[in-house]
Amino acid sequence: MTQGPVTRIEEQLYRIYMEFFETAERERRWSLFNDIPWDKVNPSCSDDLALCAETFASVEMYLPDYVASGINVVRPWFGRAWWQANWGYEESKHSLALGEWLTRSGKRTKDQWFDHYNVIAEKQWEAPFKTARQMTLYGVVQEQATFVIYVKHRDFAKREGDECLYTIYDFIARDEVAHTRFYQQVVKVLLAEDREGTLADLAKVFAEFRMPGVDLVPDYDERILQMRGQGGVDRDLFIRKVYLPVLKYLDISRHEMLAAQRRALQERQDARENAAE
Ligand SMILES: [Fe+2]
Ligand SMILES: [Fe+2]
Repeated sequence: MTQGPVTRIEEQLYRIYMEFFETAERERRWSLFNDIPWDKVNPSCSDDLALCAETFASVEMYLPDYVASGINVVRPWFGRAWWQANWGYEESKHSLALGEWLTRSGKRTKDQWFDHYNVIAEKQWEAPFKTARQMTLYGVVQEQATFVIYVKHRDFAKREGDECLYTIYDFIARDEVAHTRFYQQVVKVLLAEDREGTLADLAKVFAEFRMPGVDLVPDYDERILQMRGQGGVDRDLFIRKVYLPVLKYLDISRHEMLAAQRRALQERQDARENAAE
């Protein structure tokens, strides 16, 4: 039987997913009920710690939108579609764990928490990019950035003496880094298939990247300001902990990436000029 290039990509992605899934099942599963030390919540922790946890939980609460758009864009790819289902399961625990911490710590009442979800659900997240490849590249950057943020806030929870939240952030950070690794494996396949096109898409994603909570989570700007003191992700940190590690893992030199970014910039300028004529 002959195999077209599409089939070969499908098979590679299926294999990457199966390896990811096996490791996840064997080594990374954690239980909201058995593995979180709920008795180690520190009820006298600061309101800042709670606000940050609530902000992360809020971003995670757009899960229905992430799952819906993600699974539809990769529907034709067997391994990728199953990944989306598993990814949704893993992400679902992130908002649940943070929400439980907020109510068990006494920082929010159950009523406040459900009211908050209603406000969240009034808005809808829309995928920032159109194609499966661009969304995969967005996934690489977003999951890596999320990992960096959770690691920083894991330290914050430790400083505040909250072992429970520390453990939650630790589990979540492990999930997020596994997610970016999966996407990076997929991107390696895409690079082998069409290096120039993939680099052009990556340049676009870097240029237009924003965290998913912007414009959605209520009072997002104020929350970010509040968070800065505890370590948000500014441009410098983004370059050091997201941009450069992603390039390194993908075996893309800075020189090659900058060339792709220059080409993308030129194309955007040309398109603007053509539109103005
Ligand atoms: Fe998450
Ligand atoms: Fe994630």
